[in-house]
Amino acid sequence: MSLISLEDVWVEKGRISVLRGIWLEVERGEFLLVLGPTGAGKSTLLRVLHMDERPTRGRVLVDGKVAKFREREVALWRRRVGMIFQDFKLLPDRDVLENVAFALYVTGMGEREARRRALEALASVSMAHRRHDMPYVLSGGEQQKVAIARALVHGPELLLADEPTGNLDREAAEDVLQLIERVHREGTAVILATHMWELAGRWPFRKVLLEGGRLREG
Ligand SMILES: Nc1ncnc2c1ncn2[C@@H]1O[C@H](COP(=O)(O)OP(=O)(O)OP(=O)(O)O)[C@@H](O)[C@H]1O
Ligand SMILES: [Mg+2]
Repeated sequence: MSLISLEDVWVEKGRISVLRGIWLEVERGEFLLVLGPTGAGKSTLLRVLHMDERPTRGRVLVDGKVAKFREREVALWRRRVGMIFQDFKLLPDRDVLENVAFALYVTGMGEREARRRALEALASVSMAHRRHDMPYVLSGGEQQKVAIARALVHGPELLLADEPTGNLDREAAEDVLQLIERVHREGTAVILATHMWELAGRWPFRKVLLEGGRLREG
Protein backbone atom coordinates (compact mmCIF):
# COMPACT_ATOMS: atom_id res chain seq x y z
CA MET A 1 0.00 0.00 0.00
CA SER A 2 1.34 3.41 -0.99
CA LEU A 3 2.34 6.04 1.56
CA ILE A 4 0.28 8.61 -0.31
CA SER A 5 -1.53 8.50 -3.61
CA LEU A 6 -3.53 10.85 -5.75
CA GLU A 7 -6.46 9.65 -7.84
CA ASP A 8 -7.62 11.93 -10.62
CA VAL A 9 -6.79 15.07 -8.65
CA TRP A 10 -7.91 18.39 -10.06
CA VAL A 11 -7.21 21.82 -8.59
CA GLU A 12 -9.30 24.56 -10.12
CA LYS A 13 -8.89 28.25 -9.38
CA GLY A 14 -11.84 30.01 -10.85
CA ARG A 15 -11.77 29.13 -14.52
CA ILE A 16 -8.14 27.97 -14.46
CA SER A 17 -7.34 24.30 -13.97
CA VAL A 18 -3.96 24.26 -12.25
CA LEU A 19 -3.85 20.45 -11.86
CA ARG A 20 -5.71 18.37 -14.42
CA GLY A 21 -6.39 14.81 -13.41
CA ILE A 22 -3.22 13.78 -11.56
CA TRP A 23 -2.66 10.12 -10.79
CA LEU A 24 0.35 9.47 -8.57
CA GLU A 25 1.48 6.81 -6.11
CA VAL A 26 4.34 7.46 -3.73
CA GLU A 27 5.88 4.51 -1.93
CA ARG A 28 7.63 4.49 1.43
CA GLY A 29 11.26 5.47 1.09
CA GLU A 30 11.12 6.29 -2.60
CA PHE A 31 12.78 9.23 -4.32
CA LEU A 32 10.64 11.01 -6.86
CA LEU A 33 11.76 13.91 -8.99
CA VAL A 34 8.98 16.17 -10.32
CA LEU A 35 10.28 18.15 -13.28
CA GLY A 36 8.35 20.91 -14.97
CA PRO A 37 8.61 24.45 -16.26
CA THR A 38 7.52 27.56 -14.39
CA GLY A 39 3.77 27.61 -13.90
CA ALA A 40 3.38 23.87 -14.52
CA GLY A 41 1.72 23.29 -11.15
CA LYS A 42 4.63 21.83 -9.14
CA SER A 43 4.07 23.92 -6.01
CA THR A 44 0.33 23.27 -6.17
CA LEU A 45 0.98 19.51 -6.41
CA LEU A 46 3.27 19.63 -3.38
CA ARG A 47 0.72 21.69 -1.44
CA VAL A 48 -1.89 19.00 -2.13
CA LEU A 49 0.54 16.32 -0.92
CA HIS A 50 1.18 18.39 2.22
CA MET A 51 -2.59 18.78 2.62
CA ASP A 52 -2.37 22.56 2.45
CA GLU A 53 -4.65 22.54 -0.52
CA ARG A 54 -7.73 20.42 -0.96
CA PRO A 55 -8.36 19.23 -4.51
CA THR A 56 -11.56 20.46 -6.11
CA ARG A 57 -11.99 16.98 -7.60
CA GLY A 58 -10.39 13.57 -7.07
CA ARG A 59 -9.06 11.75 -4.03
CA VAL A 60 -5.97 11.80 -1.83
CA LEU A 61 -5.21 8.53 -0.03
CA VAL A 62 -2.82 8.17 2.89
CA ASP A 63 -1.89 4.57 3.75
CA GLY A 64 -4.72 3.58 1.42
CA LYS A 65 -7.35 5.58 3.31
CA VAL A 66 -9.20 8.45 1.68
CA ALA A 67 -8.17 11.77 3.26
CA LYS A 68 -11.06 14.05 4.20
CA PHE A 69 -8.79 16.97 5.08
CA ARG A 70 -10.25 17.20 8.59
CA GLU A 71 -8.19 19.22 11.05
CA ARG A 72 -7.00 16.26 13.10
CA GLU A 73 -6.13 14.20 10.04
CA VAL A 74 -4.14 17.09 8.57
CA ALA A 75 -2.31 17.61 11.88
CA LEU A 76 -1.39 13.92 12.06
CA TRP A 77 -0.14 13.93 8.48
CA ARG A 78 1.99 17.02 9.12
CA ARG A 79 3.83 15.14 11.86
CA ARG A 80 4.89 12.60 9.26
CA VAL A 81 5.83 15.06 6.53
CA GLY A 82 8.31 17.89 6.19
CA MET A 83 7.94 20.55 3.53
CA ILE A 84 10.54 22.95 2.22
CA PHE A 85 8.37 25.72 0.80
CA GLN A 86 9.54 27.54 -2.30
CA ASP A 87 8.99 30.84 -0.46
CA PHE A 88 10.30 29.40 2.87
CA LYS A 89 7.34 30.53 5.02
CA LEU A 90 9.48 31.35 8.05
CA LEU A 91 7.69 33.01 10.97
CA PRO A 92 8.80 36.65 10.75
CA ASP A 93 8.55 37.42 14.47
CA ARG A 94 10.56 34.46 15.76
CA ASP A 95 14.30 33.92 15.55
CA VAL A 96 15.95 31.15 13.56
CA LEU A 97 16.10 28.66 16.45
CA GLU A 98 12.44 29.22 17.36
CA ASN A 99 11.40 28.85 13.72
CA VAL A 100 12.88 25.36 13.66
CA ALA A 101 11.83 24.44 17.21
CA PHE A 102 8.27 25.49 16.41
CA ALA A 103 7.89 22.42 14.18
CA LEU A 104 8.46 20.35 17.33
CA TYR A 105 6.32 22.41 19.73
CA VAL A 106 3.30 21.62 17.55
CA THR A 107 3.95 17.91 18.14
CA GLY A 108 3.77 18.55 21.88
CA MET A 109 7.50 18.33 22.57
CA GLY A 110 8.85 20.37 25.50
CA GLU A 111 10.83 23.53 24.83
CA ARG A 112 14.18 22.32 26.11
CA GLU A 113 14.27 19.15 23.99
CA ALA A 114 12.79 20.96 21.00
CA ARG A 115 15.50 23.62 21.12
CA ARG A 116 18.23 21.00 21.47
CA ARG A 117 17.00 19.19 18.36
CA ALA A 118 16.45 22.43 16.48
CA LEU A 119 20.07 23.39 17.09
CA GLU A 120 21.21 20.00 15.79
CA ALA A 121 19.11 20.45 12.65
CA LEU A 122 20.52 23.94 12.14
CA ALA A 123 24.05 22.58 12.51
CA SER A 124 23.33 20.07 9.73
CA VAL A 125 22.80 23.00 7.33
CA SER A 126 25.65 25.07 8.82
CA MET A 127 23.29 27.64 10.32
CA ALA A 128 23.69 27.01 14.04
CA HIS A 129 25.72 30.21 14.45
CA ARG A 130 22.74 32.24 13.15
CA ARG A 131 20.27 30.80 15.67
CA HIS A 132 19.50 34.13 17.35
CA ASP A 133 18.97 36.09 14.14
CA MET A 134 15.55 37.06 12.89
CA PRO A 135 14.61 35.74 9.44
CA TYR A 136 14.55 39.19 7.82
CA VAL A 137 18.28 39.70 8.36
CA LEU A 138 19.11 36.47 6.51
CA SER A 139 19.89 36.22 2.81
CA GLY A 140 17.56 34.20 0.60
CA GLY A 141 19.93 31.25 0.63
CA GLU A 142 20.26 31.37 4.42
CA GLN A 143 16.48 31.46 4.81
CA GLN A 144 16.27 28.46 2.52
CA LYS A 145 18.69 26.54 4.73
CA VAL A 146 16.63 27.35 7.84
CA ALA A 147 13.51 26.17 6.00
CA ILE A 148 15.31 22.91 5.24
CA ALA A 149 16.30 22.44 8.89
CA ARG A 150 12.68 23.03 9.92
CA ALA A 151 11.40 20.51 7.37
CA LEU A 152 13.73 17.80 8.69
CA VAL A 153 13.84 18.46 12.44
CA HIS A 154 11.01 16.05 13.31
CA GLY A 155 12.46 13.19 11.25
CA PRO A 156 9.66 13.01 8.66
CA GLU A 157 8.69 9.89 6.70
CA LEU A 158 8.26 12.07 3.63
CA LEU A 159 10.17 15.18 2.62
CA LEU A 160 8.49 17.51 0.13
CA ALA A 161 11.13 19.79 -1.35
CA ASP A 162 9.89 22.61 -3.54
CA GLU A 163 12.83 24.01 -5.52
CA PRO A 164 15.08 23.49 -2.47
CA THR A 165 18.20 24.86 -4.14
CA GLY A 166 16.50 27.74 -5.95
CA ASN A 167 18.20 30.45 -3.91
CA LEU A 168 21.57 28.85 -3.35
CA ASP A 169 24.92 29.16 -5.07
CA ARG A 170 26.51 26.06 -6.56
CA GLU A 171 28.40 25.06 -3.43
CA ALA A 172 25.47 25.56 -1.03
CA ALA A 173 23.15 23.80 -3.49
CA GLU A 174 25.50 20.82 -3.59
CA ASP A 175 25.50 20.66 0.23
CA VAL A 176 21.70 20.72 0.30
CA LEU A 177 21.38 18.03 -2.38
CA GLN A 178 23.80 15.83 -0.45
CA LEU A 179 21.80 16.42 2.73
CA ILE A 180 18.60 15.39 0.94
CA GLU A 181 20.36 12.32 -0.47
CA ARG A 182 21.48 11.34 3.03
CA VAL A 183 17.98 11.74 4.44
CA HIS A 184 16.71 9.52 1.63
CA ARG A 185 19.39 6.88 2.29
CA GLU A 186 18.31 6.85 5.92
CA GLY A 187 14.79 5.88 4.81
CA THR A 188 12.81 9.06 4.22
CA ALA A 189 10.75 9.26 1.03
CA VAL A 190 11.60 12.39 -0.94
CA ILE A 191 9.60 14.29 -3.53
CA LEU A 192 11.70 17.02 -5.06
CA ALA A 193 10.08 19.48 -7.46
CA THR A 194 12.23 21.61 -9.72
CA HIS A 195 12.46 23.32 -13.07
CA MET A 196 16.21 22.65 -13.11
CA TRP A 197 16.43 20.02 -15.81
CA GLU A 198 20.12 19.43 -15.07
CA LEU A 199 19.02 17.61 -11.90
CA ALA A 200 17.33 14.94 -14.05
CA GLY A 201 20.66 13.27 -14.70
CA ARG A 202 21.78 13.30 -11.09
CA TRP A 203 19.69 10.43 -9.76
CA PRO A 204 18.70 7.03 -11.15
CA PHE A 205 15.32 7.36 -9.42
CA ARG A 206 11.80 7.83 -10.78
CA LYS A 207 11.03 11.03 -12.65
CA VAL A 208 7.69 12.50 -13.59
CA LEU A 209 7.11 15.46 -15.85
CA LEU A 210 4.48 18.04 -15.02
CA GLU A 211 3.35 20.34 -17.78
CA GLY A 212 0.24 22.48 -17.92
CA GLY A 213 -1.12 20.68 -14.85
CA ARG A 214 -0.75 17.22 -16.44
CA LEU A 215 1.64 14.56 -15.21
CA ARG A 216 3.46 11.89 -17.15
CA GLU A 217 6.20 9.41 -16.30
CA GLY A 218 9.61 10.67 -17.45
N1 LIG B 1 -4.76 30.89 -6.24
C1 LIG B 1 -4.53 30.92 -7.55
N2 LIG B 1 -5.30 31.64 -8.39
C2 LIG B 1 -5.07 31.65 -9.72
N3 LIG B 1 -4.07 30.97 -10.30
C3 LIG B 1 -3.28 30.23 -9.52
C4 LIG B 1 -3.45 30.15 -8.11
N4 LIG B 1 -2.51 29.33 -7.61
C5 LIG B 1 -1.77 28.92 -8.66
N5 LIG B 1 -2.24 29.46 -9.81
C6 LIG B 1 -1.68 29.26 -11.15
O1 LIG B 1 -1.38 27.91 -11.33
C7 LIG B 1 -0.22 27.74 -12.13
C8 LIG B 1 0.72 26.78 -11.43
O2 LIG B 1 1.27 27.41 -10.27
P1 LIG B 1 2.41 26.71 -9.41
O3 LIG B 1 2.89 27.70 -8.43
O4 LIG B 1 1.89 25.43 -8.89
O5 LIG B 1 3.52 26.43 -10.54
P2 LIG B 1 5.01 25.93 -10.38
O6 LIG B 1 5.19 24.78 -11.31
O7 LIG B 1 5.33 25.70 -8.96
O8 LIG B 1 5.86 27.16 -10.95
P3 LIG B 1 7.33 27.71 -10.52
O9 LIG B 1 8.33 26.81 -11.20
O10 LIG B 1 7.36 29.09 -11.07
O11 LIG B 1 7.44 27.66 -9.04
C9 LIG B 1 0.33 29.12 -12.36
O12 LIG B 1 -0.01 29.56 -13.65
C10 LIG B 1 -0.35 29.96 -11.31
O13 LIG B 1 -0.54 31.28 -11.73
MG1 LIG C 1 6.63 26.53 -7.68
